Amino acid sequence: MLRFAFSITLISSALAATPALMPLPVTVRLGTGKLILDKTFRAALVSAPDTRLKASVGRFVERLSRQTGIPMLGLGNAAPKLRVECAGAGSEYPVLGEDESYTLDVTSEGAVLKAPTRAGALHGLGTFGQLVTLGPGGFEVPAVHIEDKPRFPWRGLMMDSARHFMPLEVVKRNLDAMAAVKLNVFHWHLADDQGFRVESTRFPKLHQEGSDGLFYTQDEIRSVVAYARDRGIRVVPEFDIPGHTTAWLVGYPELGTNPGPYEIGRKWGVYENALDPSREETYAFLDTFFEEMTALFPDRYFHIGGDEVEAKQWNASARVQTFAKQNNLKDAHAIQAYFNQRVQKLLQKRGKIVIGWDEVLHPDLPRDIVVQSWQGQKSLAEAAAKGYRGILSWGYYLDHLRPAAFHYGVDPMAADADSLGQEQRSRILGGEMCMWAEYVTAETVDSRIWPRAAAIAERLWSPAASRDLESMYARMEAVSRVLEWTGVQHRANYAPMLERLTGGRPSEPLRVLADAVEGLGLGPRARAGKYTSLTPMNRLADAARPESESVRALELAAAKVAANPKGSLADAAALRREFSRWAANDARFQELAAENPLLAELKPLSRDLAALGNAGLKLLDALEKGQAPAAAFVAEQTRGITRMEKPAAEVNLAATRPVKVLLKGGKK
Ligand code: ACM
Repeated sequence: MLRFAFSITLISSALAATPALMPLPVTVRLGTGKLILDKTFRAALVSAPDTRLKASVGRFVERLSRQTGIPMLGLGNAAPKLRVECAGAGSEYPVLGEDESYTLDVTSEGAVLKAPTRAGALHGLGTFGQLVTLGPGGFEVPAVHIEDKPRFPWRGLMMDSARHFMPLEVVKRNLDAMAAVKLNVFHWHLADDQGFRVESTRFPKLHQEGSDGLFYTQDEIRSVVAYARDRGIRVVPEFDIPGHTTAWLVGYPELGTNPGPYEIGRKWGVYENALDPSREETYAFLDTFFEEMTALFPDRYFHIGGDEVEAKQWNASARVQTFAKQNNLKDAHAIQAYFNQRVQKLLQKRGKIVIGWDEVLHPDLPRDIVVQSWQGQKSLAEAAAKGYRGILSWGYYLDHLRPAAFHYGVDPMAADADSLGQEQRSRILGGEMCMWAEYVTAETVDSRIWPRAAAIAERLWSPAASRDLESMYARMEAVSRVLEWTGVQHRANYAPMLERLTGGRPSEPLRVLADAVEGLGLGPRARAGKYTSLTPMNRLADAARPESESVRALELAAAKVAANPKGSLADAAALRREFSRWAANDARFQELAAENPLLAELKPLSRDLAALGNAGLKLLDALEKGQAPAAAFVAEQTRGITRMEKPAAEVNLAATRPVKVLLKGGKK
């Protein structure tokens, strides 16, 4: 650990342009000198013949060429500047627990990447890419020795394609970004009350009647699985049963506990509809369904959901109740455990291991199932203690739009795991972040995943001791920019969405406001009570980022100025510039909003932002004169800020934070 901490200090102090490594490698030892990237750059692959790895290295060089503007020679064995030595290709598809380690040595002469498997080689290429910075002599990589391997073998992103359909290009661009931060599991939530998203040839009414025409063909599914495989990512499909199944029942009402008819869900929230666990026909259907779907998804693990099953229909059904009595099933949880055991056997005979949300935990289930903990961290340790393997998702819900620091602070090996023995701890496989899609669309989903997902990726990959928030944010913000070149559009859609809100008029005043707010997540949006799957997601709350990078910078500046007003002149000037901008923005914003119904809800926010700007300027004046602000002023501003901290128009006015720091004289 000591060596690790020491290395990181070196990285941040010794380099002019600091490479933003994320996730942080286990060991980074800087050498002297650097490798200059120029048109003689050439990568050579030394391994067992492996066309897929060759293609990956080719893609890597092509990206490097675009990044540096240097036409590069691509792959070639003569005088390579980057030598990739991959001991063995490994399995055809990525598998849980394979060796993902690599070492990377860079000198002024060249770089050598060594990995036992294709997975490790891909991770090493990613790290090499992150080491490229612009120096005085052009693009360069510092001389360095890196040894790296993941802390957890299961590092996932769950994408919900059911609530809002996510087109193929959204899925693929997110796979590219996942690979860039060494995530290795794409958990694909493919069916829910609001949509059944996979073509089924055996039961075509599933996608024909359950998807509004928005589904993936089987060829498309295969293309995603191959695309993920080539990037070292496993694809774990989820078909959530027996609850969350309304979309199945539209075409096949006979599977339901109630007779139907059913319609595709348009509202959010938990539905009462559930498959009928008492009829053999349900299991016969699932048997055929799994036969088809397990052939599409090669991964060993198959997710059956199992969350939030409402007992109401089962309790009210005479058939289900008679069945429960006959089988000694005392309540709905016992009925679900019976159902899960049947399902588990159907999947086991096809070589699959079941994974489910934590509600599936029941003593009657075999110990090889994997539990995905979403309701709290305790159930993960509990599952591990009972002999189950588990992954953590509680604390990694991206749809709650919490700051990166919150997610970064959540560790699968939390205090609850302290009482576990070594073997039990090894059952904690890692974690998955969840991108539930009630309040995102194809246009906004990237901005709700990235860049915060990179912070979680680091939590799951890097040593537990990586905890420095300043370092994390600095690197995350740098990596965020780089991620856009991989294809995700988390930054790109911001400006066009603001311009759309202004009806095509110059959007600068809205931009000033948008930079000063943060979008709110599932809870506040659900409480607003106005959303269905048909509601356009086109408001400031959708365009605004979950966490304002510019406000964070102002908070840091405010803390420095409050602590040392005379010694932080550049920070004070930056604050003054931004506060003045806020103060002057309202008149322009009100003019822009005058006849625009889309902006009407933002008028009070804009006035508040101006008030914050004016208050901030007064506080800076006082600090610069060495005076304490008047008590009455402080009291009035404190009251105002308390009011402004309540969300409006489903956004937070983040701009309160730097002003609050000044108001409190730098105290928290
Ligand atoms: C869940 O969030 N219902 C797994």
